[in-house]
Amino acid sequence: MSEEYITIDAARLENYAFEMLVGAGVPMDRAALVSRSLVEANLRGVDSHGVQLLNFYIEHMKQGCMDLHTSGSIVTESGGCMTYDAENGIGQVISDICCDHAIRLAKENGIALVTVRNSNHFGAAAFWSQKIARAGLIGMTMCNATPLVPPWQGKEPRFGTNPICMALPGAPETGWLLDMATTTVAMGKIFKANFSGEPTIPAGWAFDSEGTPTTDTQKAIKGMPMPLGGYKGSGLAFMVEILVAVLSGGAMSTEVGGVRIRTRPMRCGQMFLGIDVERYMPIEVFNARMEQLIGLVKATPAAPGYEEVLVAGEPEWRHARHRRLHGVPLSKGVWENLARTASIVQAKPPAVESQKL
Ligand SMILES: NC(=O)c1ccc[n+]([C@@H]2O[C@H](COP(=O)([O-])OP(=O)(O)OC[C@H]3O[C@@H](n4cnc5c(N)ncnc54)[C@H](O)[C@@H]3O)[C@@H](O)[C@H]2O)c1
Repeated sequence: MSEEYITIDAARLENYAFEMLVGAGVPMDRAALVSRSLVEANLRGVDSHGVQLLNFYIEHMKQGCMDLHTSGSIVTESGGCMTYDAENGIGQVISDICCDHAIRLAKENGIALVTVRNSNHFGAAAFWSQKIARAGLIGMTMCNATPLVPPWQGKEPRFGTNPICMALPGAPETGWLLDMATTTVAMGKIFKANFSGEPTIPAGWAFDSEGTPTTDTQKAIKGMPMPLGGYKGSGLAFMVEILVAVLSGGAMSTEVGGVRIRTRPMRCGQMFLGIDVERYMPIEVFNARMEQLIGLVKATPAAPGYEEVLVAGEPEWRHARHRRLHGVPLSKGVWENLARTASIVQAKPPAVESQKL
C-alpha cells in the first residue's frame, strides 16, 4: 500500500518543534532540549518517540497537567545513591538534571543510581543513556509508563512498556546500544499497522481485550501489547517498576498516568545508572575488548534469509547516518497532526513537499 509522506531536514524539524513548545509556554532552553531529544529519536529511526509525541505533550501542557518551570529537587543523596522528586516537571528537563547527577556521583563513587519519582514522559531512553555514556561511563536508563500491558497469564493491564536501555562509553552514537521496550513491540507499531490499513499483525505482538493472543489488528488496537517473551518480559517490566517506582517512592503500576491521559499528571518513575569503567580497567582496554566481542558476534555466519548479523544499536545509527544526509521522513498523517497542534500554539509549519512511499 503506498503511503504519502514528507521529508524534512532535521534542523528545520527541530526548529519547528522548538517553536511549537515555546508557543505552548515552555521556556526557550527547555524547549530546545525537548525538541533536540525528539528529533534525535526521529534521526535514529525511532519515529514512535520522535516529534509525533508533541501532539500529546502539548495537549498535556495545555491541560495544566505538567509544571513547565520546576527543576525538581533532591530528596536524598548518599554516596552513589540519589532519590529525586521531579515535582511533575518536564520529563526531558528532569532527565537531563538527573543524568548530570548520575555522572557526578559515578565519577566520585565508581557507580551511581539516581531514581526519580513524579516525572513525565522523557522520550526514547537512548538519549539519556547516551548522555551518561558521553561522559565516559556505562549509562543505563529505565522508566515505567502508562499501564497497557497485562502481566503474563493476566487479562488486565498492570505494566507500562517499561523500556530498558544501556549505552557504552567510547562510541555512544555508533557503537553497541540496546534500547528496548519490555513488550514484543512498542504500541506505536500496532498503531502504525492500523494507520496503514494492515488487517493482521504478526503472532506474538498483542492480546485482544480478553487477554487471548490475536493477530487481528483491530482486536489488538482495542487489546493489549504482549510482554516480550511471555513471563520473562513480565519479569523485566516488574524489575523496572522496582528500580524506578518502588525504590523512588513514586507511582507504581496502575497509579501511573500517561501522555494520552489528560486529566491528571503522569507521575512516572525513571532511573539513571552510571558505571565508571576506569574503576575496573583502563577505558582503552574496555573499548578494545568491546570491539573484540562485537567482532566475534558479527562474524557469525548469517542464517537463511539474512545477509549479516547485526548488534544492538546498528539499525538506529544506520538510520541516523542516512537521515542526517537525506532528511527525516514523516507520514502525512503525523505531519497533519503536528500542523493541527501547531495552529493551537500559533506556530507556523515549514513548507514541505509530499511524496509517495
Ligand atoms: N518513554 C517511554 O515511556 C517508553 C516506553 C517504551 C519504549 N520506549 C522507547 O521506544 C523505543 C523503541 O523500543 P522498541 O522495543 O520498539 O525497539 P526495537 O524493537 O526497534 O529495538 C530494540 C533493540 O533491538 C535492537 N535491534 C533491532 N533490530 C536488531 C537486529 N536485527 N539485530 C540486533 N539488534 C537489533 C535495536 O538496536 C534496539 O536496541 C525505545 O527508544 C524505547 O526507549 C519509551
